[in-house]
Amino acid sequence: ESDLQLPSSMDALKKQALNCHLCELSKSRSHVVFGEGNEDAEILFVGEGPGATEDSTGHPFVGRAGEVLTNMIEKVLLIPRSEVYIANIVKCRPPNNRVPTATEAHTCLPYLHKQIESIKPKLIITLGATAYHYLTGDESRITQIRGTVQKRDTYTIIPTFHPSYLLRNPSAKKEAFIDMKLIKSLMRS
Ligand code: URA
Repeated sequence: ESDLQLPSSMDALKKQALNCHLCELSKSRSHVVFGEGNEDAEILFVGEGPGATEDSTGHPFVGRAGEVLTNMIEKVLLIPRSEVYIANIVKCRPPNNRVPTATEAHTCLPYLHKQIESIKPKLIITLGATAYHYLTGDESRITQIRGTVQKRDTYTIIPTFHPSYLLRNPSAKKEAFIDMKLIKSLMRS
């Protein structure tokens, strides 16, 4: 990971991210997708990286996968999407939606770590194998670790499937629903 010095306030951090040129992804992006939501959220969702709709708007999870994520939050957790925070491992779109390289992910991760430090979420929900892998360093298969409760010093990680995976594999929605019910049971009542 880079020893990049980053500001601690979310506003200053966002300003720096919007001007970031630390990796190749900055050359092809239209917008930096910093992340958005409640800066005091109890729950932080972490995706992989922006897709086409996110790149063109600057907002996370606003395309088809975003619709699935919004439904998971609003119809299963029963809270407004604006109550959580939503971010990604990489803040700029990888060309053709390829998986971010290790260099891109490690270059961008300090922004996510500062977001976590600032928001202080109780629960971090990683969406898909890539988000889980780069947040934890663990390369386990998503089918092995989804729905597990992993306590860290200041937060608990619950990995689940990526919403795009659910669009391609509707039969996995059963397990995603179980994961969301688990998350609901761990939320402040
Ligand atoms: N997929 C992601 O991983 N992140 C987004 O923001 C949108 C789609």
